[in-house]
Amino acid sequence: MRKLIAANWKMNGSLAANQALLDALRTGLGSEAPACTVALCVPAPYLAQAQGLLSGSAMQLGAQDVSAHEAGAYTGEVSAAMLVDFAVRYCIVGHSERRQCHGETDAMVAAKAARLLAAGLVPIVCVGETLAQREAGQTEAVVRAQLGAVIAALGARTSEIAVAYEPVWAIGTGRTATPEQARAVHAALHEQLQRAGAAGVPVLYGGSMNAQNVRELLAQPGIDGGLIGGASLKAADFLQIISAASVN
Ligand code: 13P
Repeated sequence: MRKLIAANWKMNGSLAANQALLDALRTGLGSEAPACTVALCVPAPYLAQAQGLLSGSAMQLGAQDVSAHEAGAYTGEVSAAMLVDFAVRYCIVGHSERRQCHGETDAMVAAKAARLLAAGLVPIVCVGETLAQREAGQTEAVVRAQLGAVIAALGARTSEIAVAYEPVWAIGTGRTATPEQARAVHAALHEQLQRAGAAGVPVLYGGSMNAQNVRELLAQPGIDGGLIGGASLKAADFLQIISAASVN
């Protein structure tokens, strides 16, 4: 399977910093399209800027969240149709930061994924356990329940999503899941997807993935790419990650 490398810039960037980062990525990639799919999930106010700077490049534009509603009186929200206006191709839903800081439930995440599919976008559905849940032996039950809600809502269209396994304790901490830990969860998620008739769905790993550990992680069976936070803000590091994903 062709690997998918998605950058999640989170709430970082500025017009000047984005320009420098995107220029450096374009220069680093050169004229050859990478042998993996690359998506950059940027903050909503920078979609227009990123769309312009990515035009003609092999990198795809992504967003970090979408409204579960179609349109109307939802102050501050961004609709799937608005993302389409900026040629957004991928959109993260259910990131643990949104589940934790904004109270997003499995049902809300499923509704957002459905909105994206209806608009022709690819949802990157995030699942992952907290440290307490892992220590209580609940990891597989937690991620299966999170993914299960999405499968129940999407049915046959589950085959059109991407999934990201992001252990909450590994996000932004420098603490990565060991290849064995990640492999076990990826295997469980792939098995669940297969039973739902969505065997081809890629399952990305996210959580302190960087230029040093990317090769070992991507070498694991069932790890089909990465969702990268901190390391995606440094052009040299992100280019190394793209390069590692292009040879596996
Ligand atoms: P870090 O790569 O900074 O740990 O973030 C991972 C993440 O949350 C990507 O969505």
